[in-house]
Amino acid sequence: MEKQTNKDLIAELESKKILSDEGFRQLLSTFTTEDRLLLAQRARTVCDRVYGKKIYLRGIIEFTNWCRNDCLYCGLRRSNKEVVRYRMNKEEILSCCKVGYTIGMRTFVLQGGEDLTYDASLFEEIIRAIRKEFPDCAITLSVGEREHDLYQKWFDAGADRFLLRHESADPIHYAKMHPKVQTLQHRLACLEDLKQIGYQVGAGMMVGAPYQTVDNLVTDLRYLEKFRPHMIGIGPFIPHSQTPFRNEPQGSFDLTLVLLSILRLMRPTVLLPATTAMDTVRKYGRKEAVLAGCNVIMPNITPARQRANYKLYNDMAELRTTHSIGINEINDMLRDIAYYGVTERGDYKEEAQI
Ligand code: 5AD
Repeated sequence: MEKQTNKDLIAELESKKILSDEGFRQLLSTFTTEDRLLLAQRARTVCDRVYGKKIYLRGIIEFTNWCRNDCLYCGLRRSNKEVVRYRMNKEEILSCCKVGYTIGMRTFVLQGGEDLTYDASLFEEIIRAIRKEFPDCAITLSVGEREHDLYQKWFDAGADRFLLRHESADPIHYAKMHPKVQTLQHRLACLEDLKQIGYQVGAGMMVGAPYQTVDNLVTDLRYLEKFRPHMIGIGPFIPHSQTPFRNEPQGSFDLTLVLLSILRLMRPTVLLPATTAMDTVRKYGRKEAVLAGCNVIMPNITPARQRANYKLYNDMAELRTTHSIGINEINDMLRDIAYYGVTERGDYKEEAQI
């Protein structure tokens, strides 16, 4: 059989929503600027058909930077003794939600390190309090790996969604980025638990993470195809100076755009955020991400005082803005490209529903 051109592959991906491993490999390793723009255009058309010009906004609250884990890429890793650690109490978190609500957020994302001090009952109380005070809002958790029963408790208390990036679907690659005690097997089991409980679940990976190969990315795409998360979060790897990966190169912005478009074509209804990391590596990076098929933006609504200490990687874009400037900038940016941020929960739609 004659070799397919990248254009053929893009057309095939759009119609079949999947490619062979070889097809993915070729597209990821040989795409030209023209291919990338064609992919973005096809992905954007598909996204417009499902979600129109609406972009969903989620207010992120980084409520604790304590973490028991030691991921080699992350600035909040336990071994980083230079971080000033903080944790917010219930009142502080609720006041973040209030600010977020006023500026139009109808999803709150509680993100933090794996900080077990909340587990006994505090986190459950916090979820209940938000659920009671903001009945029209979705509550998303992003707090890492726990036992099934705890996930269940938090769900019963009113949480709707859970973000847990799988980080790499290849166990050998996963092991190069994490200490031995953290296993891919356990992370994937958590993702299964979350889905079974009834959460809308988000998975995802960094692009250009140290030791990552094109084959690893193909494995990630296959995993995402099989697991079918409701949300997929991806962004370029960015080195942090206080981690073992301090001297590793940054992930490619263009390759991230290509992957976002591929994911949109594979999963027309998936919730796909234009992540903070995109804005960190390129001015208006999130704008390009929206134009490549993203339909979610997650403004940071953590107060500046704490935000300064929540650095997953160096020069995190959100550190430069306050929440009110952040949201105005986002709205201006979206208006510029004829999209608009909406005050809606923005739940996942099944393909059959569109
Ligand atoms: N560069 C880019 N993304 C990172 N994350 C953690 N550290 C980095 C980094 N150095 C991502 C991980 C994690 C999410 C919260 O942030 O994928 O799941």
